Amino acid sequence: MSRTLIMIKPDAVKNKHIGDIITRIEKEGFKILGLKFLKLAEVDAKQFYKVHAGRPFYDELCKDMSESPIVVAALERENAVQHWRDVIGATDPKEAKPGTIRAMFAESKGKNSVHGSDSDENADLEISFYFKDYELVK
Ligand code: RTP
Ligand code: MG
Repeated sequence: MSRTLIMIKPDAVKNKHIGDIITRIEKEGFKILGLKFLKLAEVDAKQFYKVHAGRPFYDELCKDMSESPIVVAALERENAVQHWRDVIGATDPKEAKPGTIRAMFAESKGKNSVHGSDSDENADLEISFYFKDYELVK
């Protein structure tokens, strides 16, 4: 079993896809270890996405991510990181395969509905960004 950190981004919350995406999480066999609804401060979005600091989309990404609420969840499953990335599809919804969350719901490459960790190591870091150990079910 492994873990991943997912976010339902502001565009998907605004477009009322929280329920659709949580249903998909359950159908894909993920166990929810932790779940929160919150609004990021811009400074925290900048910290979360600091690997992208200096890239042309960084400022807009952090502004978009902190402008309205998001849902964050720590999920467990076999091959969690890769499985979730397969479920969400390519970063740009125009390139995402039919049936993926981004193909179905994303507005654009920037406002692309969902996040998923990109490695087991980053999943642990990202989970601890949002959750104290006691907030995760054992
Ligand atoms: P994420 O981290 O959110 O799961 O997305 P990802 O791995 O598919 O993409 P990544 O390269 O890590 O980029 C992080 C987020 O930045 C925004 N982005 N916008 N306009 C653009 O060219 C551009 N490129 C990236 C997206 O919101 C992307 O998910
Ligand atoms: Mg990424």
